[in-house]
Amino acid sequence: MNHTVLVTGGAGFVGSHTVVELLLAGHQVVVVDNCVNSAAPPANIAPLPSVNGGHDKDDTVPSVNGGHDKDDTVPFVNGGHDKGDTVPSVNGEHDKGSPALLTRRGVKHLPPSLARVHTITGKEVTAFYTVSLLDRPALSQIFVKHKVDVVIHFAALKAVGESVEMPLTYYVNNVTGTLTLLEVMSEAGVKKIVYSSSATVYGTPQYLPTDERHPTGQGVTNPYGHTKHFCEQIMKDLATADKEWQVVLLRYFNPVGAHESGMIGEDPRGPPNNLLPYIAQVAVGKREILSVYGDDYDTADGTDILSRYVALKQVYSTGVRDYIHVMDLAGGHVAALDKMFSEDFKGSVAYNLGTGRGVSVLEMVDAFTRKIPYKIVGRREGDVATMVACCALAELQLGWRATRDLNQMCADAWRWQSQNPDGYV
Ligand code: WQD
Repeated sequence: MNHTVLVTGGAGFVGSHTVVELLLAGHQVVVVDNCVNSAAPPANIAPLPSVNGGHDKDDTVPSVNGGHDKDDTVPFVNGGHDKGDTVPSVNGEHDKGSPALLTRRGVKHLPPSLARVHTITGKEVTAFYTVSLLDRPALSQIFVKHKVDVVIHFAALKAVGESVEMPLTYYVNNVTGTLTLLEVMSEAGVKKIVYSSSATVYGTPQYLPTDERHPTGQGVTNPYGHTKHFCEQIMKDLATADKEWQVVLLRYFNPVGAHESGMIGEDPRGPPNNLLPYIAQVAVGKREILSVYGDDYDTADGTDILSRYVALKQVYSTGVRDYIHVMDLAGGHVAALDKMFSEDFKGSVAYNLGTGRGVSVLEMVDAFTRKIPYKIVGRREGDVATMVACCALAELQLGWRATRDLNQMCADAWRWQSQNPDGYV
């Protein structure tokens, strides 16, 4: 059964990879993204990159059926053409969009990540809107134009360190943005949401591996983590008050890697905050050296990985995390949608999306496709020693588990980075 899925933040890292899986699963996808953290749609008509990363011989846009659009209008999936800056309404007429909705349908006006999703899947998103969730009129208009069945909500600022420096920006963007979205959904009668949450809500774990019964909100060390916890609580309260709401909270551990094509991937602005993209940028020569934040953690926690290193007379005591391939994460969202539309789901429920395996920083360095220089420096403020997921509930109730291993995470991250040294240009 396919549905119309509105994806907020769908131009971003996890969002764009999830759009691939949604399209391949047969869903119709509408994307809303303010592109503050992802490359925006090109001002002019951009040729569609071919699968090998090159460009089409001409600069027309191949339509869904593989032909080429002879003029510079945008082919609709149903063969119609977009004659101007209008936004297709639900019943196919054209009406003038508001300034916020000037984005026209079709690959020419998609951000690079979604234009490449089109190349990867051979399918188009139904529409893309460069809209902030804080723009309530524009957001409401989108729900008028499209009969949305469910929302997957990725849109958020997510840099831990930045959130400490700019808490108000994070609370307005992440919490007020979510509240506006929920109000607009309520008014439109759309009461199914999958929320992109984070293992950060667990704070410093009291036990490992960490399952969904672990307390949340305690020991959270930064405004970013607080926004994730507050948004979870808002949606839980909503589902308690109004039994029509269905809420799935997906708590990601550490998303890494890229689609196997190398065409889409993680494209951080400025120096990467996270480990694997930083390693990849050192490997491609964009960064000089990796700083390993502390090697004095008590991470000899008996996991099989560390016992192996002890055997090799190398006790790694760097931070341990549960890294999960972004395509496995994307598959978790499709599984959550399937669950949501099954009869037996009501209310709100949280699932951990990880692998259940802890990997230390130096193990990641060892596993990476290219050897890189690194130096040990002091600990990073707010870091915990170990975060590892218990994912038994997602396996039991969603029929989902991660399948890609550390080597594939590293190989796919390297392919994306080496084919796109400057990200989406
Ligand atoms: C992993 C390990 C660092 C960079 C955060 C957010 C989480 C999610 C993922 C959004 C730690 C070490 C890192 C570097 C290093 N964000 N490290 N040198 O902090 O576990 O999680 O990002 O979805 O919500 O909390 O991920 O990749 O930053 O760090 O040594 O240059 O790598 O100390 O042990 P983290 P990370």
